[in-house]
Amino acid sequence: MNQHILNVKRRTSLVTVFTLILSVQLGFIAYSGELKSRVPPDQLQEAQSLKNPYSVTKEFVDKGRILYEGRAFCSVCHGRDGQGLPVGPDYDSSSQPLPTNFTDGAWQTARSDGEIFWILKNGSHGTDMAAFMPQYVSEKEAWQLVTYLRSFQGA
Ligand code: HEC
Repeated sequence: MNQHILNVKRRTSLVTVFTLILSVQLGFIAYSGELKSRVPPDQLQEAQSLKNPYSVTKEFVDKGRILYEGRAFCSVCHGRDGQGLPVGPDYDSSSQPLPTNFTDGAWQTARSDGEIFWILKNGSHGTDMAAFMPQYVSEKEAWQLVTYLRSFQGA
């Protein structure tokens, strides 16, 4: 009888421990789901080491803006103000992430220039964010876009 009670207690505490572990993990997944790099882990280090080889002049950034608002179509999804366009109530953002809000300081801090450049080359797998380079923009234009995206920080 005593042995039985002991077993039940042990089982209960195991369930508690597992529930705790699960909720901690879920909390982590929910957080990292937003800011976790879109670059696959095996390519992340290389992507992060990519550096803009051009000097960032006002003219260079302005070319990024012209592309963003024009021929490269970025503003169609991300909005001219970089905040991501509003979507209808039926949009299921759990299966399809929303266009990134570039004015989000946490996102700006989490991403290196190299990772953004990588996204322009490869897209964000499984989302509406397609690859744009080299099909629609050249390598130089991709860096112009990267520097323009940085100008949304704190906007
Ligand atoms: C068809 C809509 C669409 C267009 C056009 C589009 N994007 Fe996106 N973009 C998205 C979506 C959706 C996401 C979110 C993907 C994700 O969360 O992984 C995204 C995410 C991003 C990200 C963030 C990826 C990360 O690492 O978090 C960057 C950078 C980006 N887009 C840049 C651009 C640029 C620059 C252009 C224009 C050349 C562009 N996008 C055009 C839909 C679009």
